[in-house]
Amino acid sequence: MTAFKETIAETAALIETALDDFLPTCDGPLGRVADAMRWGALDGGKRLRPFLVIAAADMFDAPRARSVRVGCAVEMIHCYSLIHDDLPAMDDSDLRRGRPSVHKKYDDATAILAGDALLTQAFEILAEEETHPDGVVRCHIALELARASGKAGMVGGQMIDIYAEQKDFDLAGVTQLQRLKTGALIRFSARGGGMVGGGSDDEVAALTAYAEDLGLSFQIVDDILDATQDAETLGKPAGQDAEMDKATFIKLLGMDGAKAKAAELVSSAKAHLDRFGDAAAPLKGAADFVFERKS
Ligand code: IPE
Ligand code: IPE
Ligand code: MG
Ligand code: MG
Ligand code: MG
Repeated sequence: MTAFKETIAETAALIETALDDFLPTCDGPLGRVADAMRWGALDGGKRLRPFLVIAAADMFDAPRARSVRVGCAVEMIHCYSLIHDDLPAMDDSDLRRGRPSVHKKYDDATAILAGDALLTQAFEILAEEETHPDGVVRCHIALELARASGKAGMVGGQMIDIYAEQKDFDLAGVTQLQRLKTGALIRFSARGGGMVGGGSDDEVAALTAYAEDLGLSFQIVDDILDATQDAETLGKPAGQDAEMDKATFIKLLGMDGAKAKAAELVSSAKAHLDRFGDAAAPLKGAADFVFERKS
């Protein structure tokens, strides 16, 4: 675990520097949205999604300059999703990554625009030639990220999450919700890493199977932490899911059942990587980290 924390810290530093470059401050009326984008994207978070991109791409010896760009794109989408998730119209959360959420620091309109601008910039980065010299590869990666982010992915999951507050969901329903809300971007991260690295269809399929199990376990653990940790440890409000009567695995399986399910998914995620041998150690480490994390 300690070794893994060093590994993820190393890639998080690369992402921090690259995001800082992609998000310059500016003078004049645009300065406010530029600052809000920086507040929402810099200096915080586990950077798990870019870690998955980079670790998957590393298995195929992809130049880091390329995988870091794909990592920044998915992290920008993730940060935009958090900014909007925290808005009063959604989860109404005042705290994110241990500090005021973007709408608290600025205002609702600025938070909406900062999220929109991060979303758009993610695709700008993917479309630029520095991401991959082959335009077809860039186009495939952008297509995948679009599908993972939109109605068939994260946005769709957020819609069901809100709707589910007033509805009883069974296990299949909650699984579908989590796969979209959280799973889709995690799935993209592993696949996008494989794609920018030039992995074969079979290799990208193995990464996909890994990430699908990992993504589901990630959201189950997020729900467990919401119910068991305090806001200081989490850096975001605690106990919100029960308060808002969110559809979670804990609601359906109980705490022990949810933990057992997350553990089972983490070991099956790792098993999908066996074909890669030692090269998959960082991605296997990420699976253990997802289960053992406290925030
Ligand atoms: C939180 O994601 C939102 C979910 C999808 C559950 P993370 O736990 O990855 O948040 P950061 O990026 O580390 O802050
Ligand atoms: C939000 O899920 C996931 C996305 C932003 C897509 P949650 O509402 O559970 O995330 P947290 O707990 O606020 O980070
Ligand atoms: Mg939410
Ligand atoms: Mg939330
Ligand atoms: Mg949560």
